[in-house]
Amino acid sequence: ITIDVGAQQGVEVAPDLWGLFIEDLNDALDGGLNAECLRNGDFEFNAADRDGWDALTAWSADVADRVEVRTDAPIHPNNAHYLRLTGPVTLVNEGWDGTGTSDGQGFLLSFFARAGAEPARLTVTIGSNGGSLARAQVMVPAGGWHRCETTLTAVADGRGRLHIEIPAGLVVDLDHVSLRPTGPGGEPLTFRPDLLQALKDLSPSFIRFPGGCVAHGLGLDNIYHWKTTIGPRHERAQIPNSWGYHQSRQIGYLEYFELCQATGATPLPVVAAGVCCQNYPGGAQAIADDAMDAYIQDVLDLIEFANGSADTLWGARRAALGHPEPFRLRYLGLGNEDEITDDFRDRYARIEDAVRGRHPEICVIGTVGPQPFGPDFEAGWAFARARGTAMVDEHGYRNPRWFHQNVDRYRTYEPGPQVYLGEYAARSNTLRSALAEAAYMIGLERNPGVVRLASYAPLLARVGHAQWTPDLIYFTATEVLPSASYHVQGMFSRERGTRLHPVTLGGVEPEPVTLPETGSVRLMSQGASVDYADIVLDGLVRHPVTTDPGGEPVELGGIDPAAATLELTATRRAGDEGFVVELGGDSYLQVHVGAWQNRSTLVI
Ligand code: AHR
Repeated sequence: ITIDVGAQQGVEVAPDLWGLFIEDLNDALDGGLNAECLRNGDFEFNAADRDGWDALTAWSADVADRVEVRTDAPIHPNNAHYLRLTGPVTLVNEGWDGTGTSDGQGFLLSFFARAGAEPARLTVTIGSNGGSLARAQVMVPAGGWHRCETTLTAVADGRGRLHIEIPAGLVVDLDHVSLRPTGPGGEPLTFRPDLLQALKDLSPSFIRFPGGCVAHGLGLDNIYHWKTTIGPRHERAQIPNSWGYHQSRQIGYLEYFELCQATGATPLPVVAAGVCCQNYPGGAQAIADDAMDAYIQDVLDLIEFANGSADTLWGARRAALGHPEPFRLRYLGLGNEDEITDDFRDRYARIEDAVRGRHPEICVIGTVGPQPFGPDFEAGWAFARARGTAMVDEHGYRNPRWFHQNVDRYRTYEPGPQVYLGEYAARSNTLRSALAEAAYMIGLERNPGVVRLASYAPLLARVGHAQWTPDLIYFTATEVLPSASYHVQGMFSRERGTRLHPVTLGGVEPEPVTLPETGSVRLMSQGASVDYADIVLDGLVRHPVTTDPGGEPVELGGIDPAAATLELTATRRAGDEGFVVELGGDSYLQVHVGAWQNRSTLVI
């Protein structure tokens, strides 16, 4: 092979190109980056989060009937449930697969408690197999709700659970229980240190938050409203997570901005474009016409919260929360993979016009659907071009071969809106997929006139609790397990190219490809719709298809007739990449399936 490197072109690589996408799915935040060790410390889990969940999820007691869930006179209306404990009783929290400790590690335990006429002394322990990894006592003053806290210091490495002992004869109300590791000055940590370090090591130029689907939510009540996530933690609005669990919002907008500061990244918040996610059972719904002015004001207030001086209303709020200096917001995402409907066009245009009018310095990023092709992609692009939108957010979850085949995708884009490749990953999470991403990333680097920003997605996944694969960084309660793709991202981001040179390869002959005889495969989804499926025969991508629930089967040509006799029903389980059917010899049929939910059944 010969490689000829030509003279530098007069073009610089996009300076903000490599960033991070963070969304609370796969327990990425609660149970992950959020350093909180307890699960359901507010007793606010409920059946709207997940069937069977309630205020006591993740809690147990040695004497169950000494624990009562109450809602009268709570600590805050947004934190309506609390426990009344009648001693003697010991309450135990299972944490997120336990709480990891290391010898000498400090923890700050805090809670709101209400004792009777006498003060109460509670014993708290991080316990493991009957032994104690850390122990302390906390005094609860008499009468009314009080915030109480104590420090525990671990005496050994281990993994334990928090026990709270209420002595006999005492009745204590308890809410907003929190256990956080402490930093060098004894301060409770916001972010889990090893995961934070893994993000810092990626040297991100920007961080996109809070999603993803979470940004526009499942239903109007589920849209992520930033103002409800910046106050004291026990007062924040907790809502169901569109990925089937609970959002405590302990990492809310304030902490997202702090995460950007901690990693040196520019914030890239994404707000709903006035419509919720179209995957909501009722379809995409638009914020009512007469509520739009208030919603638009919320978006303008977000910019003021991030950038306004402390003399402004929202700049003063930021300063009061400990940040007199602005967060230096430059980008704002508007919408996420939305269906391009008339309601979307109307709401999007009103918000974008308002931001452009008041804040021409902010780059508004539009949305062009969930796939790098298809009706919403075409309609989204046409809409963005017509509006002169500065940048659009493209997404692309495809198989590794697609990434190799599309390395030059951006070379032929017409002038117009620039591209933020906001979510992409080569499916399968192997070295092969990481190499495919690396090839594709060179294509991103080489077209800075088009591609300005890019972020792999999703970022984080707790082992055994992923709703989506592949992910960049896996973790357990005590380990960080980066994927091969993580090392690719780090390599590109830390060792940034800055100038472009033409490169010519010589001496490489492509291998001839032989396609098999024709036949057919029927593919039909049952249950939820399937948003993409690639039929692969012997490693060759044959047809990307999209199916609707109960829709017409898709007939595909180009498959060996012997395979056409196959009849099987397979159900995708979380974490599966697809189905593989051995056809005999070296042949196999592989179906890569991506569904919005993991409950789709395919008939092949
Ligand atoms: O990254 C996971 C999900 O993929 C995002 O929430 C959504 O935008 C996309 O469909």
